Amino acid sequence: MRKNTLLQGVTIPRHIAIIMDGNGRWAKKRMMPRSFGHKNGMERMIGLMEHAFDLGVQYITVYALSTENLKRPKEELDGLFNLFRNNFRKELQKIFERGVRLRTLGDLSLLPDDVMQGLRESEKDTEHYEGRGINIAVAYGARDEIIHAVNKAIENGEKVTEESFSKLLYTSDLPDPDLIIRTGKEVRLSNFLLYQAAYAELYFSNKMFPEFSDKELDKAIIDFSNRTRRFGKTDEQLT
Ligand code: FPP
Repeated sequence: MRKNTLLQGVTIPRHIAIIMDGNGRWAKKRMMPRSFGHKNGMERMIGLMEHAFDLGVQYITVYALSTENLKRPKEELDGLFNLFRNNFRKELQKIFERGVRLRTLGDLSLLPDDVMQGLRESEKDTEHYEGRGINIAVAYGARDEIIHAVNKAIENGEKVTEESFSKLLYTSDLPDPDLIIRTGKEVRLSNFLLYQAAYAELYFSNKMFPEFSDKELDKAIIDFSNRTRRFGKTDEQLT
């Protein structure tokens, strides 16, 4: 369902992951509290998901809260958890109506019980949907994920292969991201999908997340489409 003629003939990434950075600075510039930035960020996140699915993207992973973010001041965390409780589930209905499955990535036991249960319910309600998915990384840290997987492998008493190890990660049944986008001017991965990012194309935007429009996503996808993904091979081997 490609409504955007600019993207005719462009390779659409199967899986896009986004580090949604810059909510706080965007709000500060408007002399508003950080919670205003997060609310606008959440609305933009839903808009981007809808746009990405319209373009034919199959999986979208968003970094909503890292293990490190859990050390933020209580007031900010409460605001974020209230967004999860009150706005997020309602907004998500638009996405679920499209037959999209929700998965969470992270250690949900670190969240307030009701937030954890709400997310688990949405996972359960949508687990029968196949093909398209949104993945919310919450209380997520890539090092934590890897250590968690190593411990599972030890418990299982088996040596791992790349394939069996990736099945022990939070992303077990997902393909690796093709394109990782970070907004907010910073140029780093901040403990996001470190194992899965091995061959992802990285795209950094100076836009703060609430102002990362659908057009900005199109630009990132066009940039992705113009890259040659060699996966360690030579150009000749690819042809
Ligand atoms: C980083 O911006 C953003 C976060 C820590 C939270 C991201 C969350 C959202 C976009 C809302 C999603 C909400 C739900 C309920 C899924 P920052 O606060 O670090 O911004 P700054 O770098 O400008 O301070």
